Amino acid sequence: MADKDTMEKLVSLAKRRGYIFQSSEIYGGTGSVWDYGPLGTELKRNLKERWWSRMVHQRDDVEGLDAAILMHPKVWEASGHVEGFTDPLVECRVCKKRFREDTLADQACGRKPSKAPGEHDACELGEPRLFNLMFRTFIGPVEDQGHTVYLRPETAQGSYVNFLNVQTAARQKVPFGIAQIGKAFRNEITPGNFIFRTREFEQAEMQFFVKPGTDDEWFDYWLEERLEWHKSLGIDPQRLRLDEHGPDELAHYAKKAVDIQYHFPFGWKELEGIHNRTDFDLARHEEYSGKRLEYIDSGGGERFIPYVVETAAGVDRTLLVLLVDAYREEEVEGDERVVLGLHPSVAPIKVAVFPLVKKDGLPEIADRLARELRKAAIPSFYDESGSIGRRYRRQDEAGTPWCVTVDGQTAEDGTVTIRDRDSLEQVRVDTSKVADWVRERLTVE
Ligand code: GAP
Repeated sequence: MADKDTMEKLVSLAKRRGYIFQSSEIYGGTGSVWDYGPLGTELKRNLKERWWSRMVHQRDDVEGLDAAILMHPKVWEASGHVEGFTDPLVECRVCKKRFREDTLADQACGRKPSKAPGEHDACELGEPRLFNLMFRTFIGPVEDQGHTVYLRPETAQGSYVNFLNVQTAARQKVPFGIAQIGKAFRNEITPGNFIFRTREFEQAEMQFFVKPGTDDEWFDYWLEERLEWHKSLGIDPQRLRLDEHGPDELAHYAKKAVDIQYHFPFGWKELEGIHNRTDFDLARHEEYSGKRLEYIDSGGGERFIPYVVETAAGVDRTLLVLLVDAYREEEVEGDERVVLGLHPSVAPIKVAVFPLVKKDGLPEIADRLARELRKAAIPSFYDESGSIGRRYRRQDEAGTPWCVTVDGQTAEDGTVTIRDRDSLEQVRVDTSKVADWVRERLTVE
């Protein structure tokens, strides 16, 4: 379910349940920067783990890398970001608000009369000027141009400058890839929609180096593979689609680009981009560094600069998709309930354990079971407060797939009930088998 109120409800649920908080909230917040709370941190870790498992651990042709955020400033000259990573910015002379010129029509203010109370009738817009989205800082104590460095706006460049290091150290042959998950920073003019567009975010990117001429084939392969991965997270396939960039939308480095889009409550928007970056990046780094970045085929001795097929996903944006897609409100036996139907593999808490009543030794049995599950690496939560119905509702809203209840029968025959969050079915399972029962259902291909 994703109507126009969903975003508001999600922001509130995310705060209430400890998924996402506004950054520096006690100081009034930082513009479009967010903090992940206890459940959000777990969800994000699980999501990144699903990506890493599929992109690195399950393959022998992709290697991992964790490059630094600060890089040599020439990297960003070579990549084209110093010159071209800009948005056209226009400022209103009256309200001083700033807008991206290319999306003026979508914005509340702009050339149209403003309806907001106390605001002027129409913006008086100045001339557009180009605004570079990279955050700048200085290395060392001297704050001058010679010491300027940038917070990376994408993780990709770390993989390009390390192309030969990784290839040699891991003894890889083209075609092979370099995968990274890490923070990126963009001083966006119009961030918004919760964690959809922020100024600090995480990317999960993979650069696949191929022989020129085989790039189209690999592009199709990776597009399909990435789409399948999103579906494997339980995302509704009806809300996913592909959108190919037209010639005038292509980034300066791209021969072809297709976005995987999701139908958010605020429209179809990019979730991940698959790009054919040709040999643009490696060739530019050769030129700017003066170092050869050619691949030499150990078999035939052939030399070439590989083409790159890039898969570029946003971790926070995918996490937003998971929340939006999982959110539903429904009626159960005359009661309203809010459910986050997260795929069990990414759900922060896998099992909640409750004693039916706070007597007859049931709390001790339940607490022991929760501790055993945690020791078996199954994130579990013990709760004895409130009615059983309220405890179920709290876990439904937190996205916990299974609730285990210890009741009178447990003391007699050692079994507990396991209630499924989505089907609401309950089964009785021997206490000693709960960990295996859960583990079986957490396995993904
Ligand atoms: N290396 C290529 C690259 O960075 P991109 O399309 O600019 O390509 C890739 O970014 C992904 O990163 C996007 O599809 C989106 O999921 C995420 N992303 C980009 N800018 C973002 C922002 N300001 N806030 C959150 N996620 C962002």
